[in-house]
Amino acid sequence: MSFDQPADDDDPASRNRLHVAVIMDGNGRWAKNRGWPRLVGHRKGAERVRQLVSACPEIGIRYLTLYAFSTENWKRSTEEVLGLMALFERYIKREANRMSREGVRMRIIGERTTLNPKLAAMFDWIEAETACNDRVHLTVAINYGGRDEIRRATQAVAQKVRDGQLDPDQITDAVIGGHLDTHALPDPDLVVRTSGETRISNFLPWQAAYAEYVFTPTLWPDFTPQEMSNILTEFELRERRFGGAK
Ligand code: IPE
Ligand code: IPE
Ligand code: MG
Repeated sequence: MSFDQPADDDDPASRNRLHVAVIMDGNGRWAKNRGWPRLVGHRKGAERVRQLVSACPEIGIRYLTLYAFSTENWKRSTEEVLGLMALFERYIKREANRMSREGVRMRIIGERTTLNPKLAAMFDWIEAETACNDRVHLTVAINYGGRDEIRRATQAVAQKVRDGQLDPDQITDAVIGGHLDTHALPDPDLVVRTSGETRISNFLPWQAAYAEYVFTPTLWPDFTPQEMSNILTEFELRERRFGGAK
């Protein structure tokens, strides 16, 4: 597993390595409650993303990973799917300058090859554009499914075995982790899901094996940096044992 080195050790924000992952849920219900189309909820949700990313250094989050579109979300209407894809593109275009200013490094995880090539090119572009930033590591999961990611990693490892580059005995947890989309990131410490649903919906099953979980009833478009800060206060009180005894 490779980790990025902090660029500026004098900056307290870059010293911490806290990784928070969020299942941003409830946009549809938020809009429905107001009699508005679901896409209005997604747009409001994107505003919350921008707000949270900007607040990360102050709240103490170095790595923020957001679930934006799952491999299962293709089941939704064409209108909603296309609206979401357009929203991802617009977010990157509009936020590129701000991310650079605020030291945000953006990565996109998920299966990219089957996406619209223009959108995939946009992902490549923003990753290159922000590659030198190190203050906040924003990772957005788009067309992401944990099982799909493990399947792709397994194929890559199997290919190496077939090519004689790797012996089956050498397949360690680190080798598998190193072939996942998240290979450059530490494992999440905390996974937050909004909207009151208490399931993980195929999000980071390998990486979050020892994460803490917080489920909040707040719908994502109502989720504020203050609530995240309160959740972190609760998280800090938890005792993480990682299988050890007290
Ligand atoms: C989460 O909100 C965003 C995505 C899955 C893209 P939802 O769209 O799932 O909102 P609800 O669950 O229908 O309220
Ligand atoms: C999980 O939310 C996926 C994202 C937040 C992108 P869903 O709303 O798609 O999950 P389910 O259908 O409730 O499990
Ligand atoms: Mg949902």
